[in-house]
Amino acid sequence: MSSTATSLFDRIGGDQLRAVIEDFYQHVFADVMIGFLFVGKDRARLIEKEWELAARMLGGNVAYTGRPMREAHARVPILGGHFDRRLQILRNVLAAHAVDAEVQATWLDHTQAMRAQITADAGSECDHDAAAARTQVAGDSTAPLPLRRR
Ligand code: HEM
Repeated sequence: MSSTATSLFDRIGGDQLRAVIEDFYQHVFADVMIGFLFVGKDRARLIEKEWELAARMLGGNVAYTGRPMREAHARVPILGGHFDRRLQILRNVLAAHAVDAEVQATWLDHTQAMRAQITADAGSECDHDAAAARTQVAGDSTAPLPLRRR
């Protein structure tokens, strides 16, 4: 029996990992729900940094050279539903590439564990109180809508 420990990173391999991440960002940039958040962003950089992050998270001997998660996302207005949509795209792409089951589970768990660093929004359900407060800032929500003049 070999004494060399193999990591989940060895199991997926650097090349398959890159193919998954490239496909993932292809879908993310084109997505009707979250694509707008990526307009004008450097896709090649995102792929590179995400590859490093995923490789490291899977036990690869790779350094992450990007910004900390909280800092990278601080100026992106990410709601809970946006986070969940990204997670679903990741789930779909991992399945489409028939990625090793343990790698899939670890990657998805790790993504969920980082939620609080990405968005202050807990879930994707509608928060009625917060929505009402937003409306009050914009004006009186009970006032009739003004009729458009012809
Ligand atoms: C745990 C989940 C997430 C991970 C692991 C992740 C990973 C990353 C990484 C590695 C970067 C590059 C950092 C750098 O440039 O140094 C980045 C940037 C970015 N992420 Fe995420 N991300 C996550 C969630 C999200 C979500 C939910 C959205 C929006 C739906 C999002 C939108 C963006 C955008 C727009 C940038 C570019 C920011 C900029 O350069 O101005 N991310 N993300």
